[in-house]
Amino acid sequence: MKNVLVIGSTGQIGSELTRELRKRYGNDSIIAGYIKGAEPKGELKESGPSAEADVTNPEMIANIVKKYNVDTIYNLAALLSVVAEKKPQLAWKIGIDGLWNILEVARENNCAVFTPSSIGSFGPSTPHVQTPQDTVQRPCTIYGVSKVTTELLSDYYFKKYGVDTRSVRFPGLISYVTPPGGGTTDYAVDIYYSAVRGEKFVCPIKKGTLMDMMYMPDGLHAAISLMEADPTRLVHRNGFNIASMSFDPDEIFQAIKRHKPNFEMEYDVDMLKQGIADSWPDSLDDSCARAEWDWKPQYDLESMTVDMLKNLEAKLK
Ligand SMILES: NC(=O)c1ccc[n+]([C@@H]2O[C@H](COP(=O)([O-])OP(=O)(O)OC[C@H]3O[C@@H](n4cnc5c(N)ncnc54)[C@H](O)[C@@H]3O)[C@@H](O)[C@H]2O)c1
Repeated sequence: MKNVLVIGSTGQIGSELTRELRKRYGNDSIIAGYIKGAEPKGELKESGPSAEADVTNPEMIANIVKKYNVDTIYNLAALLSVVAEKKPQLAWKIGIDGLWNILEVARENNCAVFTPSSIGSFGPSTPHVQTPQDTVQRPCTIYGVSKVTTELLSDYYFKKYGVDTRSVRFPGLISYVTPPGGGTTDYAVDIYYSAVRGEKFVCPIKKGTLMDMMYMPDGLHAAISLMEADPTRLVHRNGFNIASMSFDPDEIFQAIKRHKPNFEMEYDVDMLKQGIADSWPDSLDDSCARAEWDWKPQYDLESMTVDMLKNLEAKLK
């Protein structure tokens, strides 16, 4: 990776990934791509170049790639699961028509491409416990349909044209920096904000609903180390399972309560979110990522909770 375009750089993942890449590769070689109405601000804007990069406009993307001699694209443009369910056509237009545009620009300009998949690429007929790398993927949400298509189309471009496509299936990502953009796992971020603000948390997901989650530093590490991995070791390409922790609402509540004994939570289940959560795996088997590019997470629920509370207390002071 010499010159990198991060599309969707102001989102939950992009805002932190852009900073991390700038730290590792130098500020000037990481271009923060944005769309109108979601421009970078503050440190993200000032620390390096930025450019309007709308995935529905292939010429715009091609011009940036040529201007900055881009060799790697992190394509983070998408509507997240809950938002996508309300706007399915737009979700497809950004997620799949947009991806096609990116892959074509990459083919013509010899770029590597990372386009995340998700635990949402699985569905009710997938084995839910220790979900294997290669298994049934019949999701029932438009988000999931677009993620399976993302994996297949990215693999297709690798096999047919040799485009260096790689990706992971992200679990719910938890971070104190940028709020999540409307996913099913957002509650696991919101709960920390309530705890630090001294408010009772109203949980939209039922007790006992297990979902895979990950602390953002591990997610960033996965996205960067997969793109740096030795290609001769990769048996898989698009859609590596990665995992670090799996918990239900009560377990994260108890983990926070050990540090904030007065913290309270009640349930008010959101049926749309619950339906999506029920169709997703309880836990993923990430042995292929461990074997093929040495994936290893650093954080578990306890160490993440300590770090989240410390950083949110400083942020919300
Ligand atoms: N955050 C998670 O927990 C999580 C989990 C699994 C997978 N993912 C995947 O990771 C990727 C990034 O997720 P995120 O959480 O940062 O999402 P987000 O909603 O926070 O950010 C998405 C970004 O895409 C941008 N965008 C929207 N339309 C665009 C367009 N037409 N062209 C270019 N950019 C556009 C938005 O401005 C935003 O910056 C997505 O593919 C998402 O499905 C995220």
